[in-house]
Amino acid sequence: MEIARTVSSVPVTAKRRILAPTMGALHRGHGELIRIARQAAGPEGEVAVSIFVNPLQFAPGGDYAKYPRPEADDEEFCRKAGVDILFRPGVEEMYASDFSMAVDETSLSHTLEGKSRPGHFRGVCTVVAKLFHLLSPTAAVFGEKDFQQLAIIRRMVRDLNFPVRIVVGATVREPDGLALSSRNSYLDPAERQAALVLSRALAAARGRWDAGERDGDRLRAAMQDVLAAEPLAHPDYVSVADPESLVELGAIPPGGAALASLAVRIGRGTRLIDNLLLEP
Ligand code: PAF
Repeated sequence: MEIARTVSSVPVTAKRRILAPTMGALHRGHGELIRIARQAAGPEGEVAVSIFVNPLQFAPGGDYAKYPRPEADDEEFCRKAGVDILFRPGVEEMYASDFSMAVDETSLSHTLEGKSRPGHFRGVCTVVAKLFHLLSPTAAVFGEKDFQQLAIIRRMVRDLNFPVRIVVGATVREPDGLALSSRNSYLDPAERQAALVLSRALAAARGRWDAGERDGDRLRAAMQDVLAAEPLAHPDYVSVADPESLVELGAIPPGGAALASLAVRIGRGTRLIDNLLLEP
């Protein structure tokens, strides 16, 4: 595995290169993205992983400083997963002290995560655009757990003509339903138990959906009822939205799909997200 810490040391290649962009603290969810990248690369292609905790996508006072950075473990993880190139630049390598550019998506970014975390997707799009330029991947793999991020990256690729195919990795869960996230490491045992409320709320929406419920308000209420029963859960948003436009849905027409999603602060404040696509 080749490790590049600077922009100028990223190897140039004529091979098919598939990128899995990450912020590190790698877990089985990232392992799945890397596995998908390997599959898409084929025996002739190469898998690149980037690890960069991107300051632009954190709010002032957010968890940027405490975000886990287990360098040696991540490197070992990548080696074992058969990664060919690990790009792990420092902040000063990515952003000049007078850095003044941004990539701003102006529609999908205004709801859900974007509404709760102003500027977050500007930071994500800016760094992903840079990673695409620096690593020139043929394709890049993003997890469905960050559904809105995935939708916005697709939009960026379409609107700015990046020659990069976007590949989707399904959400990986613990056996009890908790979606894997690097932020799960912040949870103490009681909070870890309480965090199951996210997947329970989504299961409640799925139950109503399967029983024929197609009213957005009633589906949101079903999720809110589950959240209200967990004292350590402090909901940020609960949404049933159009999976394309991310606009909140009222009556869902026959044959329509919906994205159920939520963000919840657990206990001392760990903010977790999860989602479920409700298909016709
Ligand atoms: O999903 C993430 O880990 C990050 O938002 C990403 C895409 C690596 C950009 O920093």
